[in-house]
Amino acid sequence: MVEDLKMRMSGHIPILVAEVIAAFKFTSALTFLDATIGGGGHARAILEAFPGANLWGIDRDPSALERVAKFLPRNRLHLLHNNFSQLDHLPQKNFDGILFDFGLSSDQLDMPERGFSFRFDGPLDMRMNPTTEFSAAQFLQTAPREMLIKAVRDFGEEPNWRRVVNAIWSARGTNKLDRTLSFAELVHGALPKCQRGKTNPATRTFQGIRIAVNTELEAIQVALPKAFAALAPGGVIAAISFHSLEDRLVKRFFREWAGLPTTRLDGRGKDERQSMGKLRTIKPITPSADEILANPRCRSAKLRIFQKEGTSS
Ligand SMILES: C[S@@+](CC[C@H](N)C(=O)[O-])C[C@H]1O[C@@H](n2cnc3c(N)ncnc32)[C@H](O)[C@@H]1O
Repeated sequence: MVEDLKMRMSGHIPILVAEVIAAFKFTSALTFLDATIGGGGHARAILEAFPGANLWGIDRDPSALERVAKFLPRNRLHLLHNNFSQLDHLPQKNFDGILFDFGLSSDQLDMPERGFSFRFDGPLDMRMNPTTEFSAAQFLQTAPREMLIKAVRDFGEEPNWRRVVNAIWSARGTNKLDRTLSFAELVHGALPKCQRGKTNPATRTFQGIRIAVNTELEAIQVALPKAFAALAPGGVIAAISFHSLEDRLVKRFFREWAGLPTTRLDGRGKDERQSMGKLRTIKPITPSADEILANPRCRSAKLRIFQKEGTSS
């Protein structure tokens, strides 16, 4: 019964919750920003673990905010429809803890009409914020070839990207780019037989198109420095990534702020780097085997934690 109720609230299972809460125990923990409130699982855990704290929750998806507004207690929660790339425009500054949990929630993935998944037939939409931005179908019909290549090759990391891009190009003007299943079939047909193994071969392309349509990496690139600026002295940023493109950005920013070389090729000497805080995770925290068993969607999650210099008030 309780489980039933939870499912109606949100089907999303929050990831690495204990580890996120432990990360924030380093702070005075008064004011939080959940930059990706999604199904509200982390927000709920933070409000419970820090009874005196206020939490600002944002999401670019209005339906996520509507859902959490129905079941999270509102006395210490402030919800705003926003892209985290705009977090410098929030009325609140000086956060003790900021959480990013990138990507999609299960609520979004499991709704056929949102068009994120080829497990169901639906319009090929993929917009996290359906009130703006181009749908994936419009993107596929109109984007210049270089943008398609970037989406499939760079964001999808599809080794046979040429075949997929050519198939999309040839399908323009037909209805094959309109629906999740017809598009998945198109990608499947474009790939060599040897690639048609256990994982659906359309997975990479779906990920790449989604990242492109929602300009996901650009948003992270813009948001992380703004999050650092919005952090109170001694405050903590915790970021959960789901693929290497996200994790690479987080790792680079965190290392830069900690005054460490950002890549192997970073030739700057120690005196050329400035430390503005410390890494709380040298290696990312990943879910345990038990957590993966209970929630297979978390298997690729990586949590990194950074703490800004200074003493929190
Ligand atoms: C993995 S879910 C977060 C789940 C949440 N931590 C929970 O416990 O339920 C990611 C959420 O981030 C939102 N999101 C992704 N990119 C965003 C952005 N640039 N700005 C604001 N929200 C974003 C998505 O719409 C989605 O609801």
